Order: sequence, then C-alpha cells, then structure tokens
Amino acid sequence: MNSSPKYRELFRRVERHFSRASDGCHDFDHTLRVMRNAELLLPSHPEADAEAVRLAALLHDIGRVDEPHASPSPGGHAEAGAKLAKMWLEELRLPPALVTKTVNAIARHRYRGELTPQTIEDKLLFDADKLDSLGAVGLARSFLFAGKLGARVHNRREEAVNSPPFSREDTAYREYLVKLRHLPERMFTDRARAVAAERMKFMEEFFHRLAEETSLE
Ligand SMILES: [Fe+2]
Ligand SMILES: [Fe+2]
Repeated sequence: MNSSPKYRELFRRVERHFSRASDGCHDFDHTLRVMRNAELLLPSHPEADAEAVRLAALLHDIGRVDEPHASPSPGGHAEAGAKLAKMWLEELRLPPALVTKTVNAIARHRYRGELTPQTIEDKLLFDADKLDSLGAVGLARSFLFAGKLGARVHNRREEAVNSPPFSREDTAYREYLVKLRHLPERMFTDRARAVAAERMKFMEEFFHRLAEETSLE
C-alpha cells in the first residue's frame, strides 16, 4: 500500500476502529489477510486500479464493527461501511474517481448482498474477501464460529445438512458443505479460482481425515 502519511494514518484509523470488534472471524486480522489476498490477485489484473483495490480491502468490513447482530440494517455492513469509507476518504482529499471506485467495491462485496460486483475492482475485492473463507484460515474461522454457537467438533453429512443454522449441529463441516465449497463457483477472476481450488483441496483432505479419526462416516 502507498506509504504516504495519509495512508499510514488511514491504516491506523482502521486498526483503532477494529479494536472494538469482538468477532474473531471479522476482526483487523481478517482485514490484513484480505489485503494479502488482494496482493495475490493484483498481478493477474494490471488493468485494475490497484490503489482502489488496496483501499477497498483495508476498509471493506469497517461497517461490521457497529452492526447490531440482532437487527442488521437492510443494506448490511457493506452499505454502512461504504458510507463510512466515503467520509474517511473524502477527509483525506483523495481523488474523487479513486474514492468512487473504492466505495463502490465496498458496497458490492457482500456474499448475500443485493448489489453484485460490476467492475474489476469490485470483483477483486469480492474474490480476495471470499478467499479468506477457504484453506487453513477458512477451517480455523469455521471452527471459531461453530465454537461460539456451542456446536459439535464434527458430525455426519446428513446431520449437518439436515440441521438448522445456529444449532448444535451447525458445525464447521456444515459450514463447509452448505456454503464454503460453493464459494469458488461464485468467484469472478481466474486467478482467485485457481487459489481457491488449491485451498479447497486442503479442506477436503482435512474433513476426510477428521471423519476418519472420529469414525463417523
Ligand atoms: Fe464483509
Ligand atoms: Fe470481509
């Protein structure tokens, strides 16, 4: 990322903002990993505005910090984050075109959002964010989430897929079967799909081994 004082201050502002985050799946560490994922993808897309993608990665989940879990706003954290990011970027007097590209990517990055990625910058942010749900990190995040729900370590495929979310059967394996294994087909760029395929292979092997050690299937 650009190392000018403006950008350093923005980075510190985001870090301070996330000090209030209580969710290990979407904290400042997640932001840092998404920034890293963006760097993996950017060399394959020289046509993209790299500065906008980097800024969007840094700011993409700032709307999550104050999002009430019980009654999230209709636009979700993406819309709230886009508004806040616009304010912060305008305070820094960054070029309006850069602000627009960054803010749009943030508004369109949500997996279940109504707004879908349109530009290459939107697509790169979306893919960089979803890559953090795969591989070893994806597994670790799934177990963190399942732990918060009080779910089991592992269960059988039928138990997993036939159970409601937020139940004791809402295991990391359920998250993998219901959502994570479908992420690669939702990705937009070839480079992200290639990274995703390699990370998926590791997850498949992990769940195979987990089933073996627990002798559930
Ligand atoms: Fe997000
Ligand atoms: Fe995210």
